Amino acid sequence: MYRTNTCGELRLSDAGRRVTLAGWVQRIRKMGGMTFLDLRDRYGITQVVFENDNNSDLTEAANHMGREFVVQISGTVTERTAKNPNMPTGDIEIIADKLTVLNPSLVPPFTIEDDTDGGDDLRMRFRYLDLRRNAVRRNLELRHRMTMEVRRYLDSKGFLEIETPMLVGSTPEGARDFVVPSRMNPGQFYALPQSPQTLKQLLMVSGMDRYFQIVKCFRDEDLRADRQPEFTQIDCEMSFVEQDDVINLFEGMAKHLFKEIRGVELTEPFPRMTWADAMKYYGSDKPDTRFGMRFVELMEPLKGHGFSVFDNAAYIGGIVAEGAASYTRKQLDALTDFVKRPQIGAKGMVYARVNEDGTVKSSVDKFYDQDTLRAMADKMQARPGDLILILSGDDAMRTRKQLCELRLEMGRQLGLRDKNKFSCLWVVDFPMFEWSEEEGRLMAMHHPFTHPKDEDIPMLDTNPAEVRADAYDMVINGVEVGGGSIRIHDSKLQAKMFEILGFTPEKAQEQFGFLMNAFKYGAPPHGGLAYGLDRWVSLFAGLDSIRDCIAFPKNNSGRDVMLDAPAPLDPKQLDELKLAVELPEE
Ligand code: AMO
Repeated sequence: MYRTNTCGELRLSDAGRRVTLAGWVQRIRKMGGMTFLDLRDRYGITQVVFENDNNSDLTEAANHMGREFVVQISGTVTERTAKNPNMPTGDIEIIADKLTVLNPSLVPPFTIEDDTDGGDDLRMRFRYLDLRRNAVRRNLELRHRMTMEVRRYLDSKGFLEIETPMLVGSTPEGARDFVVPSRMNPGQFYALPQSPQTLKQLLMVSGMDRYFQIVKCFRDEDLRADRQPEFTQIDCEMSFVEQDDVINLFEGMAKHLFKEIRGVELTEPFPRMTWADAMKYYGSDKPDTRFGMRFVELMEPLKGHGFSVFDNAAYIGGIVAEGAASYTRKQLDALTDFVKRPQIGAKGMVYARVNEDGTVKSSVDKFYDQDTLRAMADKMQARPGDLILILSGDDAMRTRKQLCELRLEMGRQLGLRDKNKFSCLWVVDFPMFEWSEEEGRLMAMHHPFTHPKDEDIPMLDTNPAEVRADAYDMVINGVEVGGGSIRIHDSKLQAKMFEILGFTPEKAQEQFGFLMNAFKYGAPPHGGLAYGLDRWVSLFAGLDSIRDCIAFPKNNSGRDVMLDAPAPLDPKQLDELKLAVELPEE
């Protein structure tokens, strides 16, 4: 037996007990005739004391321990004279009488402390050491508790956890696939699933009317703080349901998680916002509703006054930053630079301050009289002391997205995006299709299996761009934490959908024949949703990136720097796979 107790569990009530602990040396301090060793394991830190007067050989041995040595220590639990109220074990220490080195350690490349001196890259390379740090370990513990609660909730609702394959076929819709060559079928490739979408639908055809899986998904897309090339979904599907059934059940799960994990009781139904309103008022399909600052359209008061930028605009819109009229010229210039960044792409920004006497002072005063400016401020319900920020552009959607970035930045600057405040909502009534410039055709906005709204089905032939879908996303604090839809279960409607998406009947059969054929054998009405587990955990843990709640994440270039993957294959492996690699000249 290596230990009788863990380093985190000992308390004053254990005083007088002889215990054996095992763990890592956090640090060592020599003070007078004593050596203090902080011993750490997953559960906490316990202070161990070696007294030179009582046992000089043992103290000498302790003095030779280094950081991160793995040691086993026996001794007696004693009340501390100088208590440490910041440590759960701060009332006691162990007076050591035995020390065994289980394994020495090289000096770690960075300190295993909450505030480490290691940079991002170094910590990723030595991720197994980074995981010893409290902050990172806590995130994994939280993740574990969340998956346990997810299983508990879904089990209580009659869901079956069913595994689906990781080696599947490549599908043309959606993001890019990661592919896997097949040795036994030379020249042919599997794809790793972007999600188990079609498989879970087939499970509904099989009669498994409530399915879930906590499952890895793979997408070869550009990475961001909330995107990893492999990530985890809480993937669910249900039969004999309509949109409200799915929304209610998964809202229930969200509330269960908030209660069990964060101790927050959410009693009200989550608000629902149509996609059209989300775009109109927030310029985003995932609005951060922790704060207001909704867009106000300003074409009517501001167009046609000789200010050519506005006169030529297809959209003029503004936001009110409450109490921010005190923003200095320098701060406003910085905001203008912010919206002009290439990633955002606005041409400029107009601002107006509402003075204490109600007059409005703007950066375009020479084009507008006081009445017009006041009419604008009234329309925006701006009050004395408020700051108005306005963007315009020749493409309404693009300008709204720019205004969305400005709104989020102002929310950040004014401290309105509190990580401990949660604002949940459903975004509903997504458009069925979106135009892809790259492909030159309509693409499914959610995926091609999504059911159009019944009342919009007649428009599939006449005006597909206007058709809305039975699709819904859950958004918390501006993060899309999940999405799903009611599916098409009629093979004819599914075939029609592929036609609109530009597939010939032969191509649709080739790519999705397995699904359309299955639908001919009694497919029940069905729908579902997938939550992004990584995003849920990072939201609950208050993280800036989902990387920090993944044990072994990839970096921003999609590399695992610890495993040094991806990497070239050995020529022998390539031969076996009948593959030749030809790289373009640098
Ligand atoms: P969707 O593509 O919206 O839907 O994905 C569902 C949820 O998964 C999370 N997510 C990601 N998390 C981290 N990194 C990524 N690259 C990433 N991509 C997506 C998001 C998202 O809301 N099969 C459908 C679901 C369904 O219709 O049932 C699907 O995959 O939180």
